[in-house]
Amino acid sequence: MSIRIDEKGRLFSLETAHTMYQIKADEIGVLLHVWYGPRTDADMSYRIRTMNRGFCGNPYEAQDRLDYSLDTLPQEYSGSGVGDFRSSSVEGEGADGSLSVDWRYSGYRVLKGKEKPEGLPGVRGNAETEGLEIVLEDKVSGLAAHLSYWLFEACDVIVRSVRIENRGGKAVTLTKAASMCADLPYGRKQVMHFHGRWAAERNPERVEIPSGGRLAFESRRGMTSHQSNPFIILCDPETTERQGDCAGVMLMYSGNHLEEVSADQVGSIRVVCGIHPEGFRWKLAPGESFRTPEAILSFSAEGLNALSRNYHRLIRDEVIPARWRGMKKPVLVNSWEACYFDFNAEKLLKLARSAAALGMEMLVLDDGWFGKRNDDTNSLGDWTCNEQKLGCSLKELSEKIHAEGLKFGLWFEPEMVSLDSDLYRAHPDWALTDPGRDPMVARHQLVLDMGREEVQDYLFDSISAVLKDAQIEYVKWDFNRSVANVYSRALPADRQGETAHRFMLGTYRLLERLTEAFPDVMIEGCSGGGGRFDAGMLYYCPQIWCSDDTDAVERLEIQKGTSYGYPICTMGAHVSACPNHQTGRTVPFATRGVVAQAGTFGYELDPAKLTEDEKKAVKEQIAVFHRYEDLIEQGDYYRLDEGEKDYTAWMFVSPDKGEALVSVVATHVRANAPFPFVRLQGLDPEKTYLREDTGERLTGAALTQGGISLPQFLGDYPSVQIHLTVCG
Ligand code: DGJ
Repeated sequence: MSIRIDEKGRLFSLETAHTMYQIKADEIGVLLHVWYGPRTDADMSYRIRTMNRGFCGNPYEAQDRLDYSLDTLPQEYSGSGVGDFRSSSVEGEGADGSLSVDWRYSGYRVLKGKEKPEGLPGVRGNAETEGLEIVLEDKVSGLAAHLSYWLFEACDVIVRSVRIENRGGKAVTLTKAASMCADLPYGRKQVMHFHGRWAAERNPERVEIPSGGRLAFESRRGMTSHQSNPFIILCDPETTERQGDCAGVMLMYSGNHLEEVSADQVGSIRVVCGIHPEGFRWKLAPGESFRTPEAILSFSAEGLNALSRNYHRLIRDEVIPARWRGMKKPVLVNSWEACYFDFNAEKLLKLARSAAALGMEMLVLDDGWFGKRNDDTNSLGDWTCNEQKLGCSLKELSEKIHAEGLKFGLWFEPEMVSLDSDLYRAHPDWALTDPGRDPMVARHQLVLDMGREEVQDYLFDSISAVLKDAQIEYVKWDFNRSVANVYSRALPADRQGETAHRFMLGTYRLLERLTEAFPDVMIEGCSGGGGRFDAGMLYYCPQIWCSDDTDAVERLEIQKGTSYGYPICTMGAHVSACPNHQTGRTVPFATRGVVAQAGTFGYELDPAKLTEDEKKAVKEQIAVFHRYEDLIEQGDYYRLDEGEKDYTAWMFVSPDKGEALVSVVATHVRANAPFPFVRLQGLDPEKTYLREDTGERLTGAALTQGGISLPQFLGDYPSVQIHLTVCG
C-alpha cells in the first residue's frame, strides 16, 4: 500500500518508489506539511518544533500556548488573514465583506481510480491509481477545501489539486485558489526557474531564495508565456545534474499562473503555485465548487537529470494522449520558413515533390491558406480556403500531396480574430474588449472570448468542416499574442474576474471536442514558437513547437532548458535554412540535423533550394533519425555538459541500457585544445559497450567515470553523434 494512515487517522504518508510525502492533522486540526523527501517509514513530525518567536500570534484554541502559531508551523494549505503572515493559498470575500479563511481538518478519504478533472486537463492515471483526499473546513465562511493527492509511484510523482466548495448559505467570491502549498522546513535554498522572451524560451536560472523575502514567477498574459514557464525546481546549493536533492513543481495549466517561493523568518521555504490571483475573482454560490488545475510534484535525491526523467516518464506515459504514445511520427516539412505567405498550389506541390524525393513524410501548410490572407493583417477566424490564392480547393491540394506520397498538415490559430475578418464584422462582441475603450491590438488581431459556448461551437464547426473535407493528418494550433482587455461581453459585472479562467476552460473544451471528433489528427501546439509549452497543452497535443528561433546554436539552449521539465518527444524541432532567418548565423547542415534530432525532427526549408550535398545529407539524417527514433523519443535522456562553456552534450539510453546515443555540439572551438572527454551517464557499469565510430570497447563504468573521448573539433559549430551498443 503506498498510502499509509496512522490508527488515529491523522498522519498520512504517501509513498512512491523512492520518495515519501507526509502530512499531519495536529491536535487542534491544523494540517501540517511534515515531509517531502527520500522514502522513509518514520513519522517525521518529530522535526516540527515550536517556540514563541515573538509577534507570531496564536489561534484562539491555543491561546495559552505562546509557542503555537500558524505563522511558524509548516502548513499544507495555508489560510488567510488569521495569523499566518506568509503567502496564502486561498483568499476570498464573504457576503459580509470579511476576507479571512481559517482551515481546520475535517476528514479524509482514500481514493482509487483517477478520473479527468472536469473541464481541465489532468494527469491521466487509471482505475488502479491510488489517491488521498483530505478535507479542510472554514466554519465561518462555509468554505471546504478538498485537497487531493494522486500517486504515480514509478515516476516518483504526486499530483495535487484542490476543489473548493461553498458549503455555507451565502455566496463567497474566491480571489485566490492555489493548486498547492507546502512549507519545506529542511534546506533547498535555491530555486531554478525558466524565463525567456519570444524566440528565446525557457532559459534556466538558479537563484538564491532571499532570507525573509519572496520570489514570484508568473504570467499575467492570459497564456503560459514565453517569459516564465509554470515549472520551478527547488534545490540545495550543492545539487548538480548527477547528485543532490531537488523537488519540482509543475502547473498543468496554460493560462495566468503564479509560483511563489518565499523564505520565512527562520528559513522555512514556502511554495505556493496556481492560477495567478491578480484579476481573478470567482463567485461561488451556495453548493458550488471551484476546481484548481493540477500541480505535478516530483522529488529526486539523485540530482536534476533524475528529476527531469521523472517528469519525462510521467508526461510520456500519463499526460500526452494515449493515441500518440510511443508512436512513430512522420518527418515533416513545414512551409513557414520555406515560403511564408507567398505560395499557391503549384509551388506547394513542387515543394512536396522535392521533399518526398528526399524521404520527408508530411507537408505542413502553415499560415496564409484561408480567407484573403497574404500577410498577417487579416482573416483570422475565417477558416475557409482561399481558393483564389491556392488555385484549387484544399481537398484537391491535399489529394495531390497525398499522391506525392506525403501526409498533409494544416495551420490554424483558433482563438484569434483579425480586425479585418468576416467573423469580427459579424460578431464584434465575440472578441475580448473593454467597454468604451479601444482594444490593444497585437499582430492586427484580437482574442476571442473562448468562454462563450457560441464561440466554441463556431470554431468547432468551421475547423471540423475543413478537417472533414480535406485529407488532413496533422494540425498546427498557433496562438500569436498575449491576452489583454480581459472583459467578456457575455458575463455580468460581478463575474468579469472569471473571464481569463473561463477563456482557458473554453480552449480546453474545444481541444477536447476536436480531439474526440478527429482522434487520428495529431495536433502540434504552438504559440509564436513555445509561448504555450506546458503540461495542460500536452494533454491534447503530443508535441509543441519549441521556439520560433530555428538557429541550431540557439536551439541548444532552448531545448536544453525545455528538457528540465518536458520530454524530448514533445519538442518540435526542425532543420532550417542558413543563414538562419532569426540570427543570420550559418551552422553546418550536419549540426542542424543533430540538434533537430533532439526533438520531433523535421524540416523548415525549401528542399528544392538545397545543394546536392545537402540533399544527400537530408536522406542520411532521415535514415539516422528512423534508426534511433525509439531511443531518442522513448529512451532516458541525460544532460552531460554541466559547467562546460565550449560544448553542449546530451545522451539517450535505452530502457534496458543496451544502447545509447551521445550527441555533442562544439559551440567554441579552441586552438591546441586539451583532449576533450565527456563523462557519460545511465550506462550499465558492469557491461562493455562498443563504440560504433571507432570500434573502441569500454565498460559502462569507464565511460561514466573517465568519459568518452571526443575528436579535436575544427571549424564553426562542429558536432558528433556516437552510437554505443552493449557487446559484453
Ligand atoms: C508563429 C509560429 O511559431 C510560426 O511557426 C508560424 O506558424 C507563424 N506563427 C505563422 O503566423
